[in-house]
Order: sequence, then C-alpha cells, then structure tokens
Amino acid sequence: MTANAVLNESAYPPEQHLVDPAGERLVKIIKSSFAPVERKADEMAQHFYAVLFSVAPDTRDLFPVNMQTQRSRLFRALVHLVQMVDRPQELTPFLRQLGKDHRKFGVRDEHFDALGVALRAAVRKFTTVEWTDEVDQAWVQAYEIMARTMQEGAADDDAPAWWAGHVVDHERIDWDTAIIRVQPEPQMQYVPGQYVSIESPHRPRLWRYLSPANAPREDGLVEFHVRVVPDGWVSRALVRRTAPGEVWRLGAPMGNLWVNRNAQRDIVMIAGGTGVAPMCSVIDDLAQRDRQPSVTLFFGGRNADSLYFLPRLRQWEADHPWLTVVPVTEDGSVEGGKTGTLAEIVPAYGGAWHNHDVLVAGSPGMIRATVSRMLVAGTAYDQISYDSFTTE
Ligand SMILES: Cc1cc2nc3c(=O)[nH]c(=O)nc-3n(C[C@H](O)[C@H](O)[C@H](O)COP(=O)(O)OP(=O)(O)OC[C@H]3O[C@@H](n4cnc5c(N)ncnc54)[C@H](O)[C@@H]3O)c2cc1C
Ligand code: HEM
Repeated sequence: MTANAVLNESAYPPEQHLVDPAGERLVKIIKSSFAPVERKADEMAQHFYAVLFSVAPDTRDLFPVNMQTQRSRLFRALVHLVQMVDRPQELTPFLRQLGKDHRKFGVRDEHFDALGVALRAAVRKFTTVEWTDEVDQAWVQAYEIMARTMQEGAADDDAPAWWAGHVVDHERIDWDTAIIRVQPEPQMQYVPGQYVSIESPHRPRLWRYLSPANAPREDGLVEFHVRVVPDGWVSRALVRRTAPGEVWRLGAPMGNLWVNRNAQRDIVMIAGGTGVAPMCSVIDDLAQRDRQPSVTLFFGGRNADSLYFLPRLRQWEADHPWLTVVPVTEDGSVEGGKTGTLAEIVPAYGGAWHNHDVLVAGSPGMIRATVSRMLVAGTAYDQISYDSFTTE
C-alpha cells in the first residue's frame, strides 16, 4: 500500500511549486535517482527493512510479525514523501501531524537516523543512477527536512502519545459495514473532519486510519463507520470480529478537512463510501451552532448498497432544513438520486460552486477524479479541502 498524494502534478496551481533553485536541483536529483527503481519497490522495501532492523533492532517490534501483510507501507510512504520536498505548503502541516501521531510508537531520535540510513541504502542498492556525493547529499537533506519537521511536530504537543479506545458498541449496518462506538481514555480533542489511526487487538501492529463520524461530545464517545474492503486485513476484522469490551489503541488526530467558519460560505460536501463519516462529523458540529450555512451533501457509490448511511442521512435532512442530501450511484439504483460518478455529477449539478467551501473525502481515486473535474469546471483550488496524503 503506497502513500499517495491524491492529485497529480498538473492539478496543482503553479504557486504550489515555488522552491528556490537549490531546492529545485535537490528535487530533480531525488526524482531522477528514484525513477529507475520505482518498479522495484518491493525488493527495495525488503532491503530497507533488513537494514533498518540491523541498525536499530528494537524497531522490529513496532512492525507486524508478518511483514507481507503490511506490504511495505512505511517504506512506500517514505519514498513518496521524500519526492514531495518541493511542496512544503502541504508537506509541513502533514509531517507535523504525522510526528505527533508517531509518538504512539515511542519513536526515538536514533530511530529517525536509522530510518534515514536504511532509506538511502535501499535506493542506492537498486538505482541505476551513479551514486555520487551530490546524490547522496540530496537524499540526506530531503530526509532530514522530513524527519526534523516530524520531530518538531512531536515535541510541540502535550496531548497523550496514544489513547486507549474502549469499544462500547458495535452496530452492524449490513454484511459489510459496522458503526463502532469507542470511548477514548483520556478524552480526545479533535477537529470535526479529522481522522485517527487505530490498532485493534485482532490485528496487532496493523494501524489503519478511521474518521470519527461525530463532533467531539461532552461524554467523549467517538463513532466510527467501518466498511470491509475486499481482502482487507483490518477492515474485515473490525466489522466481523470487534466486540464491546475490547480495547483499541488510537493515535493523535490528523487531517485538514476544514470549514472556513469566518467566511460564512455555504458548503458542498462530496463523499464516497465511508468518506461520509468525516462529513457527518462536520454536519454534527454545524447542527450545534446558532446559525448554519446551507449544506449540500453528495453521497456516492457504485450502487444502492454502497450508500449504507443514506437512510440516516435522509432522517437528518428531514430534521435540518439547511441540509440537502443528493445520492449518486453509478448504476442509477437509488430512486430520486443521480446516475454517474461523483466527479461527473457534482460539477454538472452546480458548475464551479462559486462562494462555497468544497469538502471531498473518499478513496484516493475518487478524490483525485473529483478534485480534477472541479478545477476544470472553474472551482478555485483554495475553495477545496481534502486530505491529500492517503493510502492506496
Ligand atoms: C484519511 C483516511 C480516512 C479513512 N477513514 C476510514 C473510515 O472512516 N472508515 C473506513 O472503513 N475506512 C477508512 N479509511 C480506510 C482505512 O484506513 C483502510 O485503508 C481500509 O479499511 C482498508 O484496510 P484493510 O487493512 O482492511 O485493507 P488492506 O489489507 O490494507 O488492503 C486490502 C486490499 O484492499 C485495497 N484497499 C485498501 N483500502 C481500500 C479502500 N479504501 N477502498 C478500496 N480498496 C482498498 C488494497 O489496495 C488491497 O488490495 C480511511 C483511510 C484514510 C487514508
Ligand atoms: C521522516 C520520517 C518518517 C516518515 C515520513 C514516516 C511516515 C509514515 C507514514 C506516512 C506511515 C503510514 C503509512 C500508511 O499507513 O500507509 C508510517 C507508518 C509507520 N511508521 Fe513512520 N515515518 C517516519 C519515521 C518513522 C520512524 C523513525 C519509525 C520508527 C522506527 C517509524 C515507524 C513506523 C511504523 C511502525 C509505522 C506503521 C507500520 C507501517 O505502516 O509500516 N516511522 N510512517
């Protein structure tokens, strides 16, 4: 599973790429030395973990016993992020949050050093580009920027390194979907729309992200929607085996799906599958305010079964006059809904959605397609909010 920026290069507005000439050279070296080995990511990952575990043997316990199940998530995330050093505006806030999140591993400074050594060793072993001092230094520098930003983010936080998540309820919505209610101890502060990484006792050391579907509550209870993905290690266990009484571990909240409350703009939400969970959290938050903007929520999936939360959204729509829910299915199987993909339907329905905040959540492919189509339709980049670093 790779960590991918959701949008490709061309979707970013030009100012997002501004770096000084030295930075540009560094990025060029990183990309050109990595390009020849991109297809060998699995072999490189094996070498990376071998070096890491020999340089810092105590890090082995942080990873799953069977590394195959993990398919080199960390390694793939690393090489991807290193190549994004030319996008500091997006990378810095993400890495700071990631640093806070990594406190749950008990990561120490020497682990960061070991990881840097392992990363360079892996790329060096497989690249066809001559490994000169300049190439080596480019990788050292790019990695150090990331490591330092994460370490600064971690140091600048007095919240717990992780929370114990007591499962209090497991509600099966259908064969593939469950709503799981968890009581974090101590209480967890998060911003509606953020996500957290979780580890279940059924899948030790396999951390996955889930988005709270409610705004922070006085009693601290957090509700998660979990949907099984085909052959999914963790989602299957969460839906089929989780039971009240068990205890998860939760990492620090992350993510940047936000509503600009000062702008007082109306909102369009675009959610694919469990991407509806963070939208529910934002809606729940808005419902508790004195005044609400007008909110249009497009909830999309392949067919009616994918829209597992539609009956409850319909109920919310009836309760909140400011909320409009538009179901979207590819096969047109929801009566009164739209037929097509979210990427097609949303711009066709409202054009560029000027004067709206646009929130997008779902699979990386869905986000990529939707954001690209909205930019083409004339939506300004800074109107759109989505979490750009997701796993695929
Ligand atoms: C920011 C963020 C928030 C998330 N919020 C939620 C949430 O609230 N609820 C929720 O259920 N999930 C959520 N996810 C997805 C979740 O973190 C896991 O990736 C997902 O449950 C699959 O994990 P797994 O271990 O079951 O699958 P894996 O064993 O990791 O993967 C199994 C197979 O499924 C494919 N796959 C993995 N993820 C997906 C996917 N999302 N769609 C389609 N195919 C996939 C893989 O490529 C692989 O082939 C979120 C992900 C991110 C990045
Ligand atoms: C610049 C440094 C680092 C970056 C950019 C980074 C990035 C990431 C990211 C993005 C993930 C999530 C991967 C996913 O879910 O797809 C992850 C997971 C993880 N990271 Fe880090 N990390 C860094 C340093 C470290 C260090 C120093 C350690 C300790 C040895 C560490 C241990 C882990 C572990 C155990 C996981 C979960 C297991 C896994 O997903 O493979 N990371 N890291």
